Amino acid sequence: MRESFSYKDNVLGVEAEKGWTSILELIPDSEVPTYVYNLKTIKSRIDAYKSSLSKLKTQIHYAVKSNGSAEVLKCFQSEGTCADVVSQGEFKRALDCGFKGSQIIFSGVAKSRKDILFAIENDAYQINIESLAELRRVCEISKSIDKEARVGFRVNPDIPVDTHPYITTGFRENKFGIGLDQVRKAVKILKESESLVKLTGISAHIGSQIMDVDPLVDSAKALKRLAKELEGQGFKLESIDVGGGVGVDYQSHDESLDIQMIKNYGKKLEELFSDFDGTIVLEPGRSLVGRSGILIAKVEYIKNNGFKDFIIVNTGMHHLMRPSLYKAYHSIVPVRKTGENLEKNFDIVGPICESSDVLGFDRVMEEPKEGDFLAILDAGAYGMTMANEYNLHKLPNEVFV
Ligand code: LLP
Repeated sequence: MRESFSYKDNVLGVEAEKGWTSILELIPDSEVPTYVYNLKTIKSRIDAYKSSLSKLKTQIHYAVKSNGSAEVLKCFQSEGTCADVVSQGEFKRALDCGFKGSQIIFSGVAKSRKDILFAIENDAYQINIESLAELRRVCEISKSIDKEARVGFRVNPDIPVDTHPYITTGFRENKFGIGLDQVRKAVKILKESESLVKLTGISAHIGSQIMDVDPLVDSAKALKRLAKELEGQGFKLESIDVGGGVGVDYQSHDESLDIQMIKNYGKKLEELFSDFDGTIVLEPGRSLVGRSGILIAKVEYIKNNGFKDFIIVNTGMHHLMRPSLYKAYHSIVPVRKTGENLEKNFDIVGPICESSDVLGFDRVMEEPKEGDFLAILDAGAYGMTMANEYNLHKLPNEVFV
């Protein structure tokens, strides 16, 4: 059941290491929507990945893009994980939060010369190469400053997955990685460059919010085959990076299922790579932080337009883009249950001047009053990181427990 956030005397609170605290006590300003995080949830997910992979040499590189708040990063750093970043901004934030450059993987299709220089100068663990042109650029920069650069070939294994089309990444239609049949060309570029660029690993990421581990394992198998081929060509890889983690079942309140899925995936990787003597790298984001955060909204109005009932709240697509962008489902619950009012069917909508600004369609819930608070659950991943100030609204506050 729900572990990260739970009700006591009909009030929602955070179940943290020091006991239970009411959400109502945690909100610094009731007029500003607030993300509340439970850091204990994150630790339990890190433990699940670690314990299921205990027989392998593994490195968890937390995907900073899923939640880049400094407190969250410091939590990961103190738990001994590494980081995966996709911009110089994320790289700098990770350094500021205590990660060493040598613990950071730099992914992303559009790295500028300055980004690459920054990564090399900061001894990045690995720059994941997304195109042949990028590889040429890294060779050139490494040569020009006479400094070693550690690169990984990010390949696109062409594996379709059952997730929203905007978040598949390892299908041939997608912009990410180099095709498996381009690896030979990449090797040639590397050999001919006579630079200090070292191929330290290979990686793949096929998409996010994947609820079936089989395609993830298929992608890992493709990487294992590629590692063998490269070994035949004289490249001894230090690591294989299998990409992001598993998804989160947003429809379910049973958090133990998340842990089971993480462990199931971990065990399959452990079996698959039992004969690999390098490091297995994972870059999970959502499965580590998704359940850890909720977004608290204040009810501004209850509205019936003669056709439909709406709950209008002070947060929306600008603070949590996922429902509008991917038609993603997030449970929405009252912070205080009264049991006094009738249940009705509402669309829960925000203040933005667009009809796409709907946080939840057709939600059956007890009718709240103006000034009551609602909690939008499972918003710890890709929530605050994707928030913006559209319509010049303020960004939400953040509270960490
Ligand atoms: N590594 C790479 C190279 C990635 O592109 C991603 C996510 C991850 C790791 C982390 O994947 P995860 O473990 O979180 O599934 N904004 C979207 C998700 C976009 C994910 C993009 N890449 C959403 O809100 O669903």
